[in-house]
Amino acid sequence: MDALLSVRNLGKHFDGHVVLESIDLDLEAGKVHQLIGPNGSGKTTLVNVIAGALKPSSGTVHFDGHDITGKDPHEVYRYGLARSFQIPQPFVNLNVNENLVTSSTENRGDLYRNAPMRFRWVADERKLQKMADEVLELVNLTHVVDNLSSNLSGGQMKLLELGRIMMTGAKMIFMDEPIAGVNPKLAHDIFKKINQICAEHGITFLIIEHRLDIAFQYVDRVYATDQGRIIAEGTAEEILENSDVIESYLGT
Ligand SMILES: Nc1ncnc2c1ncn2[C@@H]1O[C@H](COP(=O)(O)OP(=O)(O)OP(=O)(O)O)[C@@H](O)[C@H]1O
Ligand SMILES: [Mg+2]
Repeated sequence: MDALLSVRNLGKHFDGHVVLESIDLDLEAGKVHQLIGPNGSGKTTLVNVIAGALKPSSGTVHFDGHDITGKDPHEVYRYGLARSFQIPQPFVNLNVNENLVTSSTENRGDLYRNAPMRFRWVADERKLQKMADEVLELVNLTHVVDNLSSNLSGGQMKLLELGRIMMTGAKMIFMDEPIAGVNPKLAHDIFKKINQICAEHGITFLIIEHRLDIAFQYVDRVYATDQGRIIAEGTAEEILENSDVIESYLGT
């Protein structure tokens, strides 16, 4: 197996308080992976350390053949690793379409010196709009394309967030609780979209999600954390039968 993301012996502490310890992960390309574990077990911290928002205290992270250990978020993002947040952060004063188009880094018109010269960026603009139209369709937001993002429902905002990340050309997407607070129908829709994007675009996912009844129907592989360590990994069925996971997280 060739891992897209490899984490070795990763550790993180805050002023001596150990939050992550000896984390090893090998995430395969083109799969949907889920991270579970009790509150405070270190899931968000792990994603933050991998994606560059926090510096690791020890260990290494390799992504797509690059050593990204301790690199800043914008560098990690340039290698094709993007993340969404526990609370979506769209541009609230822009509509859905504008939120998508401005998420791409591929428009030469963004450069100050090019902006007055339309011929330099008009083709980029057309290409981006075509891509935005496709992404809109994919995340089911075509019918609200002109709405301000601040007027979307919680679930639609999560879909917009997913669409914005797709516009960056990411190879791997981290999502922190994409269906928290979302009604069941839309929660299923979001996971169906994730599976479709994974299958059709070969994008790999790592998703933190507590709602196992829904998420477990869609993910390929599950990693269970407890007190800063990975205590189990396997298919959803295997995890449901793992005694350590039952004891720490699922209850009896
Ligand atoms: N910046 C920080 N400074 C100090 N401690 C922190 C910091 N960030 C996180 N922690 C601590 O690290 C531990 C893990 O937190 P983290 O947010 O990663 O957990 P989590 O698994 O994502 O929890 P939840 O399921 O509630 O989202 C907690 O004890 C938290 O208090
Ligand atoms: Mg968290």
